[in-house]
Amino acid sequence: MARGTLLRQLIKTGVQGSPDDFRRVSEQIIREERQKQHHLLANDLEKILYGNVAKPYPGLNRIQDKIPTDSERGLPLMFIKEPVHQLEDVVLSEENESVIEQIFLEHRRCDVIKSYGLRSADKLLFYGPPGCGKTLTSEIIASELNLPFAVVRIESVISSYLGETAANLRKIFDFIDSTPMIVLFDEFDALAKERSDAGDHGELKRVVNTVLQMMDAYMGKSLIIAATNHEVILDEAIWRRFEEVLLFEMPDQDHITKLLSVKLRGVRCEFSTDDIDVAQLFNGMSHADIERTLRRAIKDMILCGQEFLRKTHIKKALEREKTRQRRLKNS
Ligand SMILES: Nc1ncnc2c1ncn2[C@@H]1O[C@H](COP(=O)(O)OP(=O)(O)OP(=O)(O)O)[C@@H](O)[C@H]1O
Ligand SMILES: [Mg+2]
Repeated sequence: MARGTLLRQLIKTGVQGSPDDFRRVSEQIIREERQKQHHLLANDLEKILYGNVAKPYPGLNRIQDKIPTDSERGLPLMFIKEPVHQLEDVVLSEENESVIEQIFLEHRRCDVIKSYGLRSADKLLFYGPPGCGKTLTSEIIASELNLPFAVVRIESVISSYLGETAANLRKIFDFIDSTPMIVLFDEFDALAKERSDAGDHGELKRVVNTVLQMMDAYMGKSLIIAATNHEVILDEAIWRRFEEVLLFEMPDQDHITKLLSVKLRGVRCEFSTDDIDVAQLFNGMSHADIERTLRRAIKDMILCGQEFLRKTHIKKALEREKTRQRRLKNS
């Protein structure tokens, strides 16, 4: 618990109605609780004091109102997602970390870059197995650059009406051209499949050609991220349209250890998060699977009325995860 003097000061600032002093004293209490390793309490207090979400971007309502729609069915072609994660929430390979830092720098200093007649990197391709951070990292880029995070609704973009998919793509590119955003084309393979695919037909060729043309001509204000976990079926010509191509791999031992420390932040554990025996339990699992397992283990700890997470909670959760994976494979 915070010291008596601080509590007195806090109540006094509330009664006197001085918001600046109230914030200062609250921040001091949070600092003290953190020093005492009461991370869960400190996190909760921070959420109450600052709110849970990042600053809203200017003109968000205006952007929402202008989201293009499919002419045949009236479906919105994109949606704006509120970023809730920050850079400290993701575990990245050294290589990806350095590329992303460089992108932040280029975007933060875009005026200098522009003054030399250059453009900040604006087309990135993220590929790799499911659950390894492609969508999460896109969201974090939006959050760090304080830009709206727009996700393309692939299912709305792809239309059974002839020529409509290409028309939808044009609408998206027109929209993102003038409004700075981070735009995620998830499941990008659906739009950029190898044109000589066995099941190929004229419409697919038309769509891929439109994507290539749009990407080549793009000189807009947004940063485009295309993500896929089926990179092998991407058309060969697509790859060179991207300035940076980032591979998101399954975590190795070192990354599992880092992931444990990120995901168990604020949780009291009976083991150390860099215990190699604990990390080894998660070998061969994706980041998302590890996170799901840890969430289950923490819930088990809470429901058992215990305050410390034990290896037994983790082992039990892992068993359930294995059963889940088996069922998914058989379904
Ligand atoms: N590298 C990572 N660091 C921290 N957490 C991660 C990481 N990768 C995944 N996660 C966790 O797993 C969740 C799912 O990950 P994400 O949606 O980014 O995967 P993805 O690579 O986009 O998968 P898919 O190919 O299926 O779309 C994230 O919201 C996050 O909680
Ligand atoms: Mg994804």
